[in-house]
Amino acid sequence: MSVFLGIDIGTSGTKTLAMRETGEILATSTFDYPLSNPRPGWSEQDPADWWAASIKGVRAVLKQGKIKPAEVKGIGLSGQMHGSVFLDKKSEVIRPALLWNDQRTVAECAEIEKRAGGRKKLIDMVANPALTGFTAPKILWLRNNEPKKFDKVVQVLLPKDYVRFCLTGEFATEVSDASGTLLLDVAKRKWSDALISKLDLDSSILPKVYESEDITGKLTAAAAEALGLPEGIAVVGGGGDQAAGAIGNGIVKSGVVSATMGTSGVVFAHSDAMQVDPQGRVHTFCHAVRNQWHVMGCVLSAAGSLQWYRNQLGQAEVQAAKKQKIDPYELLTEQAKEVGAGCEGLFFLPYLTGERTPHADPHARGCWIGLSLRHGRGHLVRSIMEGATYAMRDTLEIIQEMEIPVRQVRLSGGGARSEFWRQMQADIYGKTVVTINAEEGPAYGVALLAAAGTGAYKNVVEACQNTISVVSELKPDGKTRKVYNSYYPHYRNLYQSLKTDFAEIAATVDKVG
Ligand code: XUL
Repeated sequence: MSVFLGIDIGTSGTKTLAMRETGEILATSTFDYPLSNPRPGWSEQDPADWWAASIKGVRAVLKQGKIKPAEVKGIGLSGQMHGSVFLDKKSEVIRPALLWNDQRTVAECAEIEKRAGGRKKLIDMVANPALTGFTAPKILWLRNNEPKKFDKVVQVLLPKDYVRFCLTGEFATEVSDASGTLLLDVAKRKWSDALISKLDLDSSILPKVYESEDITGKLTAAAAEALGLPEGIAVVGGGGDQAAGAIGNGIVKSGVVSATMGTSGVVFAHSDAMQVDPQGRVHTFCHAVRNQWHVMGCVLSAAGSLQWYRNQLGQAEVQAAKKQKIDPYELLTEQAKEVGAGCEGLFFLPYLTGERTPHADPHARGCWIGLSLRHGRGHLVRSIMEGATYAMRDTLEIIQEMEIPVRQVRLSGGGARSEFWRQMQADIYGKTVVTINAEEGPAYGVALLAAAGTGAYKNVVEACQNTISVVSELKPDGKTRKVYNSYYPHYRNLYQSLKTDFAEIAATVDKVG
């Protein structure tokens, strides 16, 4: 029986998974590493940590799953998107990688828009506006701020593609992750020579682009020895973590959308044709399915807002849960259940780390609005859950405005664990929500891509059809849906009312600390 490995280079750690071609998971392991914030808004990691965690991960799953090395027939790679690894002519890392959540490139985003001839022209070239987290502004930041280091740059790689280089010795990427660099002509699925030349960059610093299930190289002798595997195993393109997670959720045809309520929240829709929001509020990227695209929105603090509450204000529940040997979120959810939908006019805006979709505003901040003497802890908790879910609905609304069909929403992440939050999502989205049998996310998605790319399936769509199935379903409740529909327009207006204040408050914080 063939075994396929999926390696997901996440922000807090690398997850490795071993899967039989039937989709059965044999073993998983996660190895963590640190994140460094050398200055406010900066976010960096050492690529050597990713490689070390990948070695440990592969060795751990082989052992745990009692897998014979010769059974492994393919490896797929996924990872945090948008990061930048700068390599010199000896293929050595020049400085720590700048990550997706790094905010230092505000000036470079403006520079890119200007060089491109304006926001509209930029969107015409690469389907997306310049956002601080994307890769292209990071390359310009290096040129503007560390020119001596920039002069040494021979290759720029995304996080998972650095691990690919360690595995295969090849400089390669694939279309889904490459879309998030802002340098890909997303329509043509190749680097945008037009934008690269307007930015005065040398296209030779970018790796070769493949489709996600294509074989991009084979395991070298040195890598094989490090991992305890035979030389020559195929490494397929894989995908950025969102596209790979979508494959792991079976989002491979039109009409099926995923809503992943993790620390951040992502709504992801498959699209047969490339569709762009002219306002650039959602991202349009290549999907990890051959010649297909996706549209996606990212809420920066979704279930992360509830985590913040638990850590900062939920200490009593944390202690009580410890005594009862249960998860503190169970107690918080019980409190939320005691109050009605809409929280009697209490809203929570979940912009604790600024926002990406739909507002792209690093200055936006979290707030409760509408507090009265009647409100208690249950309202505080429920309003956070509702606020995070309204924020996800914002993306769903844009997707529907773009006439991308949404027939079913597949839920995953922490927000899909309780039936209460799943029902809330059905009611706020106004859609049937389902969960599926697979819960392993991006690592599972790229193991499926490895299976498809090495011939175990005709393609990744067939791989998903054979392995992924729906296990639960909830429909919106008409009455509650009406309540949320009455409150949602107010939620939407609140950001618009506060936008100028957010920017002015940020300027004051900068000035007076
Ligand atoms: C996607 C995004 C995140 C990162 C880290 O656009 O920024 O999903 O890939 O997980």
